[in-house]
Amino acid sequence: MDWKAVDSTDSPEVTEVIELLDVSFPVPREYIEGEIHKTLAYPEKEGRLHRLRSVDGSLIATAIYGQQYGEGWNGEMMVRFFAVHPDHRRQGHAARIIKEIMDSAIACGAPCVCLSILQSDTVAAGIWKRRGFTIYATQPCKEYSENGLHDCYVHWLNE
Ligand SMILES: CC(C)(COP(=O)(O)OP(=O)(O)OC[C@H]1O[C@@H](n2cnc3c(N)ncnc32)[C@H](O)[C@@H]1OP(=O)(O)O)[C@@H](O)C(=O)NCCC(=O)NCCS
Repeated sequence: MDWKAVDSTDSPEVTEVIELLDVSFPVPREYIEGEIHKTLAYPEKEGRLHRLRSVDGSLIATAIYGQQYGEGWNGEMMVRFFAVHPDHRRQGHAARIIKEIMDSAIACGAPCVCLSILQSDTVAAGIWKRRGFTIYATQPCKEYSENGLHDCYVHWLNE
């Protein structure tokens, strides 16, 4: 298995990651494309886009994560656009990637790991809650209000 940051100049891989996100989240593809290109252009601010490939080269999963600074942030590790390809779900990939992200947050001294989950997504919420994440805020989905509320989850690392 090969988990690494996506090279912004690798257009075929960027497109493949966008396709995986497009089948995984209830938001328009144009929104995903915008967010991914912004992330690739400003990784220090937006976090780094990662992907997992199998030994035969299939794209298995993706996630953006990185420490946040400025505008009230103080090195918190934010996770966004985390998805496992539908053909590869229920095989423990998400669990292994979460461990990788948590280990990376500890290694870089982040005070916590945080993310947002739509309230309708009870599967995702369960995954993070079982790993000690708790809700610290609830907000309307800013871009797509029809998606309802999302809960913001945090796991403090210094407790
Ligand atoms: C949520 C998602 C990332 C899970 O990926 P996965 O590789 O199938 O998950 P894993 O096999 O590692 O399982 C992780 C845990 O979720 C549970 N789980 C996974 N899919 C589930 C399902 N459909 N129903 C109930 N539980 C499920 C597993 O039992 C496991 O339980 P554990 O917490 O006790 O270990 C994947 O379904 C996905 O990409 N969904 C669409 C996008 C999304 O919702 N992203 C999450 C945003 S935070």
